[in-house]
Formats: sequence, C-alpha cells, structure tokens
Amino acid sequence: MKIATIFGTRPEIIKLSTLITLLDKDFKQILIHTGQHYSYEMDRIFFEELKLRDCDYTLNIGSGSHAKQTGKMLMKIEKVLLDEKPSIVIVQGDTNSTLAGALAASKLQIPVAHVEAGCRSFDRTMPEEINRIMVDHISDFLFAPDENAFKNLINEGITPGKIYLVGNTSVDACLRTKDLFNNETPDYSLEKGNYILLTLHRQENTSYGGLKGILDAINIISDKIKVLFPAHLRTRKVIEDHQMEIGKNVILTDPMGYKDFIELLASSKFVMTDSGGIQEECAVLNVPCLILRDNTEWMVYVEMGKNLLLGTNQEKIVEGVMDLLDNDQKLVEMIEIPSNIMGNASEYIVSIIKNNIK
Ligand code: UD1
Ligand code: UDP
Repeated sequence: MKIATIFGTRPEIIKLSTLITLLDKDFKQILIHTGQHYSYEMDRIFFEELKLRDCDYTLNIGSGSHAKQTGKMLMKIEKVLLDEKPSIVIVQGDTNSTLAGALAASKLQIPVAHVEAGCRSFDRTMPEEINRIMVDHISDFLFAPDENAFKNLINEGITPGKIYLVGNTSVDACLRTKDLFNNETPDYSLEKGNYILLTLHRQENTSYGGLKGILDAINIISDKIKVLFPAHLRTRKVIEDHQMEIGKNVILTDPMGYKDFIELLASSKFVMTDSGGIQEECAVLNVPCLILRDNTEWMVYVEMGKNLLLGTNQEKIVEGVMDLLDNDQKLVEMIEIPSNIMGNASEYIVSIIKNNIK
C-alpha cells in the first residue's frame, strides 16, 4: 500500500508534520510538494524545525493567478500519480495545492483523504471557501476537526460513513513545539504580556485599500501598546510597493520560524490575525485572538468565547481594541474559558487509514 501526501504551503507543512512522520513509520509514503510556497522562511525553515524529511517530488509551481497556479499543479501532479499509482492521496486544508491534489487524484479514481474537512466561512468570495467545498465533495475520507465541521458536511449531503471526527492536527504540531520553548527567541525588546502579535495575508485584506484601513487602525493602536508584525511575503510586497506607513511602535519583521512564532504568540497580550491556523493555536494556548475578518471557518472558537470576530472596519478595530486594553477583565474571561480541543488527530487518522485501505 502506497500513500501520496500532497501539499504546498506553510500551514499545510505545519499541520501535516506529525501525520507525515507517523505515516512514514508504517507505510510507503510519497511526499509531493507543489512549490506554491518556496521562499526559505515560508517553506524550508519548517522542514528543518519540524525535522521533516525531503520530499520525493518538488513540482516548483511557484506563484501565479489562481487558474495558472492550479492548472500547472494539476498537470504535474497527474503525471506523478500516474507514475507512482498510490492507493490513497492525502491533502490538507483549503489552498490551491489542496484543490489540485484532490482533483488530480479523484479524476484518476484514486481515493482522496481530506484533513480539516468541513470547515466553512459561508463566504464564497474567499478562494479558500471554494477550495474547501470542492475538495470535500470529491473526497472519500473526510477528517473533520470539530463538531461544527462535521455538521456542515452532513448539511451538504455528504454520506455520513465517509466523515470521521478526528480533531485538529494543528494541535499536534503546536503542542510539540511548546516543548521546545527556550526563551531564545529574537530580542525585539518586548515585555512579556504587553504587546500585540499581528499577522495578515488574506486576499481580501491585502488589496491596497483593505490593507491601508487595517494598518491605519494598527498605527493608532500602537500609540498605546507595541505591535509585533511578522508579515507574510504577500503583505510585505503590498506594503513596500505602496510605501505604506508603519507606526514607530509597530515592529515589522520577516515571516518567523514556527518555534519563535508560537513562543511569541504565547507571550503576547493578545493576537490580531486573519489566519486560520493562528486562530486554532490561540485557542489551544489560551491567548485571546481578535479576528480581522467579517467571518471565519473557525466559528467554533468564537462561539466558545475564546476568539473574537473583530471585522475589518478601521473605526471598529480601533474601538474594539481600545475597549479590551481598558478592560483587562474581558481578556481574562477569554483566557479562562476552556477550549477542549481534540488533540492526537494525526494518530487517529493513521488508524483509520490502516483499517480502511489495503
Ligand atoms: C496561500 C493560500 C491561503 C493560505 C496561505 C498560507 C491559496 C488560494 N491561498 O495564500 O489559503 O492561507 O497560502 O500562508 O492557496 N510569496 C512569496 N514567497 C513564497 C510564497 C508566496 O514571495 O514562498 C508571495 C508572492 O508574491 C505571491 C504571494 O506571496 O504572489 C501570494 O502567494 P500565494 O501562494 O498565491 O497565496 P498566499 O497568500 O500565500
Ligand atoms: N506561522 C509561522 N510564522 C509566522 C506566521 C505564522 O510559523 O511568521 C505559522 C502559524 O503558527 C500557523 C501557520 O503558520 O501554524 C499559519 O499559516 P498562515 O497564517 O500563513 O495560513 P492559514 O493558517 O491562514 O492558512
């Protein structure tokens, strides 16, 4: 039995890291990297930190429009799958690499397993929402991270027997990294518990207008508290191309390694982000998370009261953050709510594959 695991971006490498390592122990596994992310700090650094072996195929697709990127991936992935003839293909999440991997496999009638199935923002203007829906509907094994995701799949008419509630694989990676905390993070002269950690990269937040509104709000907020901003390379490019103003209390850095990032997240007062994975990590590590989006596929944590949907309107962002800075009790309440997130998802997935694929 041969497994092909296909991925291409930072969050996929991180969230698949434990599963890849476990699968290598028991199966012949082929790792196919599309090359969607390729810069050292978006890609290779995570292989080094998470001690992942080299990929068997690196397709070097790189950046491009959605259609060009996905189309090139489909052609190259199909060729590898025809040569390797795996018994099952594993994909994770909602990126163009996820879609291309699942679609190429499904057209060759190779069973597809989707890790993080069923997440929905119910916003079809997001490229990720289109990818998630498409992948779920052509998958044979749907690994849902939580009950919301499970219910979404049932509501869309997916056969219940294909859906497995397994928990979040990001918890596996995140908790592993916690053991590596050593206070050797880069020194940004930040006081523990007294800075905001900010990330932004969504398509809808990185148009010039969208980014400017959010950064103007951040600059105002940074008069009261320092902001650490490891910017995704997409975001960095927009900031540089438009010479956008960054307040003197905003520390703009390159994307960080996973250990440093998680350590700085755990030590922050709270996080502001549009990232999906970071919403999960905040809930696991009990750090309040303010979501810079109008909706999220991780409503489960918002409903619990651990994360807060802040939106993207400049005035509302400033108002919401000032309110929290003036009212520590609100933050304490968010921290104290138990998150009850299911871990060990990677192990569970391995056992399901073992029992179902011969
Ligand atoms: C992609 C995913 C998004 C995911 C994110 C994780 C899609 C549609 N989007 O968005 O769901 O949340 O990855 O980070 O699949 N760039 C570099 N070096 C790199 C990678 C990207 O400089 O290694 C720059 C390029 O200018 C590129 C831009 O970032 O054009 C966007 O990259 P792309 O992979 O298209 O989308 P992401 O925004 O990274
Ligand atoms: N991350 C990181 N360094 C950074 C920013 C994020 O290691 O500078 C990690 C973060 O801990 C999480 C993942 O990258 O595990 C999230 O990726 P991203 O926000 O790019 O994508 P999303 O999760 O929104 O798809």
